[in-house]
Amino acid sequence: MANWYTNVVIYSLHLEAFRDGNGDGIGDLKGLRDSLDYLASLGITCLWLQPFYPSPQRDNGYDVTDYLAIDPRYGDLGDFVTLLEHAEQRNIRVLLDLPLNHTSIDHPWFQEARRDPSSRYRDFYYWSREEPKNLRDNPIFGEEQESNWTYDEEAGAWYYHTFYKHQPDLNYTNPAVLEEMEKVMGFWLRLGVAGFRLDAVPHMVRAKGSKRFDGDPHDVLRAIRRFVEEHRRDAVLLGEVDTEPDEYQNYFGQEDQLNVLLNFYLCNYLFLAFATRRSSALQHVLETLPVTLPYDQYGNFLRNHDELDLERLSEEDRQKVYEAYAPDEEMRAFGRGIRRRLAPMFEGDRRQIQMAHSLLFTMPGTPVVRYGDEIGMGDDLSLHGRDSVRTVMQWTDHDNAGFSTAPRERWARTLIDSGPFRNDKINVADQRRDPESLLHWFARAIHVRHELPEFGEGEPEVIETGCADVFAHLCRSGDSSALAVHNLSPETRRFRLDLGHEELDVALEMFADARYDRLDQNDGALELGPYGFRWFKLEHLLEG
Ligand code: NOJ
Ligand code: CA
Repeated sequence: MANWYTNVVIYSLHLEAFRDGNGDGIGDLKGLRDSLDYLASLGITCLWLQPFYPSPQRDNGYDVTDYLAIDPRYGDLGDFVTLLEHAEQRNIRVLLDLPLNHTSIDHPWFQEARRDPSSRYRDFYYWSREEPKNLRDNPIFGEEQESNWTYDEEAGAWYYHTFYKHQPDLNYTNPAVLEEMEKVMGFWLRLGVAGFRLDAVPHMVRAKGSKRFDGDPHDVLRAIRRFVEEHRRDAVLLGEVDTEPDEYQNYFGQEDQLNVLLNFYLCNYLFLAFATRRSSALQHVLETLPVTLPYDQYGNFLRNHDELDLERLSEEDRQKVYEAYAPDEEMRAFGRGIRRRLAPMFEGDRRQIQMAHSLLFTMPGTPVVRYGDEIGMGDDLSLHGRDSVRTVMQWTDHDNAGFSTAPRERWARTLIDSGPFRNDKINVADQRRDPESLLHWFARAIHVRHELPEFGEGEPEVIETGCADVFAHLCRSGDSSALAVHNLSPETRRFRLDLGHEELDVALEMFADARYDRLDQNDGALELGPYGFRWFKLEHLLEG
């Protein structure tokens, strides 16, 4: 199926932090392979692997020195192919994170470009012989990044970098750059990946310095889409496009650019809804998100490996989210976001964690889960910047968390072993044994979500409830619909849905936070406990 991605559950992880398979203290491909049954039983059907290419690791692997290889610390190409085979046996597809916007400064292309002005690689990057007029036109990392242009002695020129100065931007006005990257994508597709998570997409097609694209800059994205589909018919491009939503359409194109956009907009408004307990925040999103063509999809998420970037909210709304979830300055990052995991933001409250994920699983789109969120992992604010949310997976309550047999001082990442989210309290092994655990709740929720593809592919519609803190929405697809109701408040709510009687008559309750009275026993009135939720399937075929 070419649109398989409309109904998968994506799980994102960095190998280094997930599981160490050979006892050297670094998570790797073998460790992930050994964890595939766990992921399969959780109901995960697609993996998003964060960059595993050779890299000096100054930006979590988003600073690549060779796109055609795997950092030997994680294993080799043979291990990767084995992983793909094992994943395929479990019906799990694999997407690779591909940072195309920039390389590492250590990449041989940049090294040659700076050394030799006549090299073919010189024009792979953006240069300026004169000091550029605006050195900070688009700084992304606030105080950690002084400028967008850095002078290079060896080159005798300034080079442009959207992100850190060790990440020179690639120049996509030069067709040779895309040719190289097509080779890269062809290579990984041939090995068997299902597509790519493209990093920092808007920056690839933005004018920088004096360079201009010949035609439409988005032709770069069209060429990539064409290329990947020619090499694998059902390949998918999942794009990081953190822009205003009225620009989303430009990145879907006419089903000829990205297939899936990570939904930063919904993410921001979900947290606003949690903080204010107002369903109007979610109604606003569903009413303003651009309507998509059938093969376009949103990739919904609550948290990712970066800060929770709140740039899509007004200053006033952002402050409300900060007050609720990041009252201390040390919880914030880059003047725009929150460097915490989800569970600590809700102080470990199961009801809120579940309600938040219930919304994630039912909002129109494809849910993207972050490793560790299924057990409610915490963050370590003593670590620098975004490292706070990148600690190792907590498999067991042992001193090594079941992550690695190597002595802790050799580990590439740290473990949360103190505080309420420490591994002897929060871990997979304990939650496996407990049928009431968050992990079991997650598995159930995901399995039911697989029975409700309407949430992934249907046309969304907000349903009036008459309660400001209850959100109800319906996704219609062909002969059936899926309906979800969520209580954003800590109080019990009773309400009626502004839906025709006939529709409710055919509603089958599929999942809920508690056992509620059947709809037909209450004359159509619904009840939701504190932070409660209920999912229904409406099969119109049953009507006759
Ligand atoms: C976006 C990635 O999500 C982030 O982690 C990284 O720092 C920047 N791109 C720069 O590569
Ligand atoms: Ca290892």
